[in-house]
Amino acid sequence: MIKIFLLTEKELPEVIAIENLSFPFPWKPEQFSKNLPQFYCAKIDDKVVGFIGIEKIHDEAHILHMAVDPAFRRQGIGKLMLEEALKTDASKFILEVRESNSPARSLYESFGFKEAYRRKKYYNDNDEDALVMIYEKKPA
Ligand SMILES: CC(C)(COP(=O)(O)OP(=O)(O)OC[C@H]1O[C@@H](n2cnc3c(N)ncnc32)[C@H](O)[C@@H]1OP(=O)(O)O)[C@@H](O)C(=O)NCCC(=O)NCCS
Repeated sequence: MIKIFLLTEKELPEVIAIENLSFPFPWKPEQFSKNLPQFYCAKIDDKVVGFIGIEKIHDEAHILHMAVDPAFRRQGIGKLMLEEALKTDASKFILEVRESNSPARSLYESFGFKEAYRRKKYYNDNDEDALVMIYEKKPA
C-alpha cells in the first residue's frame, strides 16, 4: 500500500538515491535540506519510492522537483504524489519540464497542465528548452 508523507531528514538518504538514479545532473543533498518543509515522499511499507517538492508563493504553487524510483515506475506513484501536491491551497500551479521528457509531460497533461511558454535553452547540459506548464484550479 502506497502512502504519502511529509519528508523528514530520516528519508533524505533514500530520496537522494532516487534522485541520483533519475537525473543526469542530480540535485545536491543541501538543495533538498533547504527545501525540506515543502517535500513529500511516497512510501511502500517503510521504503521510500518517490518524492515531490512544492513551493507556495502567495496564491501560486511551483512544483519544484519530482521522481519515482525506476523500479517502481508506471504503478501510479507519480500520479498519487502529484494528486497530493495539488491539494495545496493555491489556484495556480506551475512547473518546468524538459521538452524531451515525455513521461513527465504525459503525467502533467493528464492532470490538466498546459504548455504556457518555453524557456529557450534553459538546460545548460544540452541547451534543451524548458516547457513551462501551468494548471489553474477551478474554483469549487
Ligand atoms: C515522470 C515520473 C515521475 C512518472 O512517475 P510514475 O510513477 O512512473 O508515473 P505514474 O505511474 O503515476 O503514471 C501516471 C501517468 O503519467 C504518464 N506516464 C508515466 N510514465 C510514462 C511513460 N514512461 N511514458 C508515457 N507516459 C507516461 C501516463 O499518462 C501515466 O498514466 P497511465 O499509466 O495510466 O498511462 C517518472 O517517470 C520519473 O521519476 N521520471 C524521472 C524523473 C523525472 O523526469 N521527473 C520529472 C522532472 S520535471
